[in-house]
Amino acid sequence: MGFSAFGVLTLSYILFVSFSLATPSSSFHENFVNCFYFKANLSHPNSQVLFTKNSSSYSSVLQSAAQNLRFSTTSTPKPQLIVKPTHESHIQAAIVCSKKHGLQLRARSGGHDYEGLSYVSDVPFIIVDLANLRSVRIDIEDESAWVESGATVGELYYRIAEKSKVYAFPAGSSLTVGVGGHFSGGGFGTIFRKYGLAADNVVDARIIDVNGRVLDRQSMGEDLFWAIRGGGGGGGGSFGVVVSWKIKLVPVPSIVTICSVQKTLEQGATKLLYKWQTVADKLPEDLFLHATIGVVDASQNANKSKTILVSFDGLFLGGVEELLPLVQESFPELDLEHGDCLEMSWIESVLPFVGFSVHESIDVLLNRTQQSISFFKAKSDYVEEPIPGAGLQGLMEILLEDEAAYMILTPYGGKMSAISDSETPFPHRSGIIYKILYMVSWETNKETKDHISWMRKLYAYMKPYVSKSPRAAYVNYRDLDLGRNKNGGNTSYAQASVWGLKYFKNNFKRLAHIKTNTDPSNFFRNEQSIPLFPLSEKKQGN
Ligand code: FDA
Repeated sequence: MGFSAFGVLTLSYILFVSFSLATPSSSFHENFVNCFYFKANLSHPNSQVLFTKNSSSYSSVLQSAAQNLRFSTTSTPKPQLIVKPTHESHIQAAIVCSKKHGLQLRARSGGHDYEGLSYVSDVPFIIVDLANLRSVRIDIEDESAWVESGATVGELYYRIAEKSKVYAFPAGSSLTVGVGGHFSGGGFGTIFRKYGLAADNVVDARIIDVNGRVLDRQSMGEDLFWAIRGGGGGGGGSFGVVVSWKIKLVPVPSIVTICSVQKTLEQGATKLLYKWQTVADKLPEDLFLHATIGVVDASQNANKSKTILVSFDGLFLGGVEELLPLVQESFPELDLEHGDCLEMSWIESVLPFVGFSVHESIDVLLNRTQQSISFFKAKSDYVEEPIPGAGLQGLMEILLEDEAAYMILTPYGGKMSAISDSETPFPHRSGIIYKILYMVSWETNKETKDHISWMRKLYAYMKPYVSKSPRAAYVNYRDLDLGRNKNGGNTSYAQASVWGLKYFKNNFKRLAHIKTNTDPSNFFRNEQSIPLFPLSEKKQGN
């Protein structure tokens, strides 16, 4: 059995402003540093909390969570300073001093932002890297936990399993993803059909706002609490820096089953994939069966050097004897057999979904470093109707043009359809059959242009088959091709709607209202941060 696939006045004033933005003076720099140490009540210097470009570990701290090599080149803009807080007061000081000295602030938890927005900016900026704020406090009796934003999903799962094997949390499959960015954009994994997104299971949070105030659910109010659970890069991006989250743990059986069936084009993969589209969202919510499509070597076949392999990989919250008849009834074409399945505990089941062997120790969950880091570009789509066979065939032909590409089709339905589209900012619930992740990764900078242009070709091809008005996208799969804020992030609501409606649909306007009330000076901004709502429309009561 193979589980490997799891695998932006006067002329002189303008010139002065742009020059001062581009190259902050050394006294400016010193002023920020003095401000920071004073506000954070730290002795000066503190080489463990504040890293200037002269610090010996500046580069290693910067690279420690830069997860896309596309944003680690010599031409990539670098932060003026990196703050690595060990206490909330350090975040408060970073916000207050950045605001005072005109620096942008990028919060980074796990650094997995697809477009590097947590560690790259075109204007002078600092990074607040939350890696040292990663405690996880589990309360099994209360079926809850407080987890700090700098923890990875793997660390969270590990700490839960340390206390109990029959509790879990419905977050992502990828273990090095940071809780901070992940929960802010939604967060789905192998049990989201049963329990919804990570953001759906957040019951409280601590956020530091633009004035440096620490707020919990009660003091931030229900509007802001709604916005940070799916509003995308929720804090650092738009509303503040989220320090920690209180989450609801969910029950899982002591035995779960993983299964994997793989078919090449020659073995009927396209037909099977077509059928999968018609059943995957209707399967019982205890069963998650996603499909990964990738290019593999076929040199043993005289006629061709490569083919497409579709891998149907599943997790069932129960034993194999219960799973087999269920699949036999709803998806007999898969021909799932006992030998395609393995029983294990839920915590063990997270490993094969990220390419680890089922025999690997769960201690790897504590490893914050990805197994391999590459250059990559990704995009997403939502599918509302099965793609016809001819459409799938054309897709396979395009995929064969780039061996470094793959797609993951994630079935919706279950709990996802039971939650209203406005319950959180994440709107992709009703009428969705499945979500597509398109991914292409490569090894050297010189390949970048070709892979990205191929990715855009694939995305153009898929247009007739995916959601329309708008063509929706998942904010955690950030894609700057969809549009970006102009004027250094101070864009208009209308201009931001180009990308905003794709991520948030009808929830975008509410997000903009909350942004206007929470951060009226638009301090927390980036290329896709929530814009301010226009005053004129506000007065008209829109
Ligand atoms: P990062 O630190 O880069 O932050 C992302 C955004 O959130 C940035 O805008 C940042 O400023 C902001 N932010 C970060 N911390 C913040 C804080 N504490 N307060 C306020 N704002 C903050 N998704 C999924 O749903 N399921 C999955 O299985 C996977 N798998 C996966 C694998 C790999 C290899 C990658 C690269 C990505 C995924 N993702 C995913 C997508 C992932 O959920 C998304 O990239 C998250 O935003 C990553 O969160 P990080 O904290 O790691 O990113």
